Amino acid sequence: MEIINRRQRMASVARKLRREEDKTIGLVPTMGALHDGHLSLVREARRMCDVVIVSVFVNPTQFGAGEDFERYPRDLTGDTTKLADYNVDYIFAPPVEEVYPKGFATYITVEGLSETMEGAARPGHFRGVATILTVLFNTVRPDFAFFGQKDAQQTLVVKRLVRDLAFDLEVVVLPTVREQSGLALSSRNAYLTDEQHRAAAVLYRALAQAREVYMEGERNARRLAEAVRAQVDAEPLARLEYVGVVDAESMEKYDRIPEERPVLIALAAQVGRTRLIDNIIIQPARQKARTTSEP
Ligand code: PAF
Repeated sequence: MEIINRRQRMASVARKLRREEDKTIGLVPTMGALHDGHLSLVREARRMCDVVIVSVFVNPTQFGAGEDFERYPRDLTGDTTKLADYNVDYIFAPPVEEVYPKGFATYITVEGLSETMEGAARPGHFRGVATILTVLFNTVRPDFAFFGQKDAQQTLVVKRLVRDLAFDLEVVVLPTVREQSGLALSSRNAYLTDEQHRAAAVLYRALAQAREVYMEGERNARRLAEAVRAQVDAEPLARLEYVGVVDAESMEKYDRIPEERPVLIALAAQVGRTRLIDNIIIQPARQKARTTSEP
């Protein structure tokens, strides 16, 4: 396994693998502090691709002022050890000035999907995500890129980015990995005290409760959102920031959920000072109803 810090070196290694060795390349973009959620992406990349590249880069442009860019967990040594166990071929871990050299002035905005929910709560966040992914995709030119369902809105933004800018790659989305309690794995869980960690399980319980209400026949989006809010409000350590009930593919906002459409229920909440997100997707009730990301 080689750790590459320079964009040009990464591009030339990937070019050689593609052209001379005819290898398929899987890219797993991460911000490091790897957990089992990331590793499930790496495992699938290893299964599907000849060569696996994991990028580790805490991307400043997707953090707003006052967010946790400075204190975001960084542990390249620990990440390297974990990735060695998965037989990863390359880690691409550039310094900030390598990705954003002096005079960098080009940013990508995916309109229509970036303004609500996470986009409204974190203005500029998806512009930063789309920009870094464009740089990574152009550098590595992967055949497949792997993302977790936990960042549901991000997966939709990435799919649209890939489609609209004609990147020749397939986006692979894998289920959220959860603790026994249902809490979605996240690098930010490291900020939680033990008590907050236990309390944070309310987020998945709230989503599961909304799914129950849906299964009982409720199609009013506001009532499903209320079911989530009631559960989160009952946990004194958690404060719900938003809950969205939208189309799982287009992110269209619903009053009443059409029977034939998959629905995304997504939330963000503060647990102590830590901001966490989670979601479930409920498939149309007429098919065998099931959700993604079961614990
Ligand atoms: O999901 C993340 O960790 C980041 O948003 C990503 C996709 C690596 C871009 O910085």
